[in-house]
Amino acid sequence: MAKAKTIFECIECGHQESRWLGRCPQCGAWNTMEESLPVRSVSKSGSKIFRSSVKSVSVGLDSIHVDDGVRYDTGIIEINRVLGGGIMKGSSILLGGEPGIGKSTLMIQLAGSVKTDGNILYISGEESAKQIKMRADRTGVTGVNIEIFIETELELLLGEMEKTKPAVVILDSIQTVISEEAGKVPGTVNQIKYCGHELISWCKQNNSSLFFVAHVTKEGVIAGPKVLEHMVDTVLYFDHIESGLRVVRAVKNRFGTIDELGLFLMNEHGLQEVTDPSSLFLTKRKDEMPPGITAVPVYEGTRVLMIEIQALVVPAKSGFSRVYSDRIDSNRISRIAALLEKHTGLKFFDHDIYINVAGGIRLNEVGIDLAVAGALYSARTGIPFPGATATAGELSLAGEILPIPHMDRRLKTAREMGFPRFIGPSLPGKKNSKNSDHKEISHIKEYVKTVFKG
Ligand code: TYD
Ligand code: MG
Repeated sequence: MAKAKTIFECIECGHQESRWLGRCPQCGAWNTMEESLPVRSVSKSGSKIFRSSVKSVSVGLDSIHVDDGVRYDTGIIEINRVLGGGIMKGSSILLGGEPGIGKSTLMIQLAGSVKTDGNILYISGEESAKQIKMRADRTGVTGVNIEIFIETELELLLGEMEKTKPAVVILDSIQTVISEEAGKVPGTVNQIKYCGHELISWCKQNNSSLFFVAHVTKEGVIAGPKVLEHMVDTVLYFDHIESGLRVVRAVKNRFGTIDELGLFLMNEHGLQEVTDPSSLFLTKRKDEMPPGITAVPVYEGTRVLMIEIQALVVPAKSGFSRVYSDRIDSNRISRIAALLEKHTGLKFFDHDIYINVAGGIRLNEVGIDLAVAGALYSARTGIPFPGATATAGELSLAGEILPIPHMDRRLKTAREMGFPRFIGPSLPGKKNSKNSDHKEISHIKEYVKTVFKG
């Protein structure tokens, strides 16, 4: 028989090499290469092995029927939103996040509220049944159909699943599961790959939905379980943002988009949904805004949020100008500053630029360009942005103000949040309106003139 080939795999990023290396050439981590399960793809004679099966046969695309009732409502609007409308039956979902963010809390609350046609099996290798019960009491979860199973051995988990045939399986966490088939240490790439694969296969065959909870290291990488990301249907990250909010976002979703946010606040009764976050990223001010501040309606997933952008521009401390911005890409800030230099004569090259986003949310939407330009100009000149006025629009490298999607909804949210006036591109498909509350402009030169000199 052909000799099985040994593979070494990085436990951080999953990169594979045919020999052991001290440092992973892909992610640069040290001492993370581990021997992986041997793979054999050639027969004794060296030729590829082909088999035919009676179990799996190809089917015509138009003979496949998809029925509608294939999603479970989680009972949590924010999670339904992120998942694309609930849990797909038979799908596997990875929920990653730092310790303490609230993964176990979210899972027990979801177990209590999900509307299924069967039982929920909550497997924990981290906590005792008592601890889980205390958390359930605290968050008001009663759930008569929730089974708690404290175990870490894969074969026993599969046995319990076979016995109880749950509709939803929650595994808290994948790093604690171990099978003798894949070595002796839990949490290694081999273990996670092998156990993950076995659990996903069982759930696919039995049409059960599966949640894997996974701990994330400080660097934001799902330690080890990174390899699971390729195997599951959906990958969710649970994260903090500055304002105390906790955000669930999908970084992969076979059954929905990845630009939806699920927002929560943690209190003494667990995670509370934040269904109307439009005002959370604004600082309430009685008087007009101080220099360097603008407000922009940002389109996130299917919601519009009013967000405050803050700029500070001061003479450079060293010989050259630097941009400090960790919420908006610094290259984008530099590009907008360069556009202001070119078209308004204002100089930034000998100044340091600091950019912040209130509430600590990360922004990469094109519509914020104009708000950044307004904040930079205002900070550099000391002239405040006009009160009760929101702004949004994309800037081209030629200084043109380009239309952005969902203008109607942005204007509506801005008005509702106390910004009746708006400066930005014209509404697509509509003639320049005579509406004095909506100033339509087409170039950055005109923008600066209208906002700061008009
Ligand atoms: P937990 O869900 O255990 O986090 P993870 O599983 O991601 O490690 O809980 C996170 C934190 O939330 C923990 O420090 C305690 C706190 N907490 C509350 O503030 N209120 C609550 O009702 C619960 C259940 C937890
Ligand atoms: Mg936990």
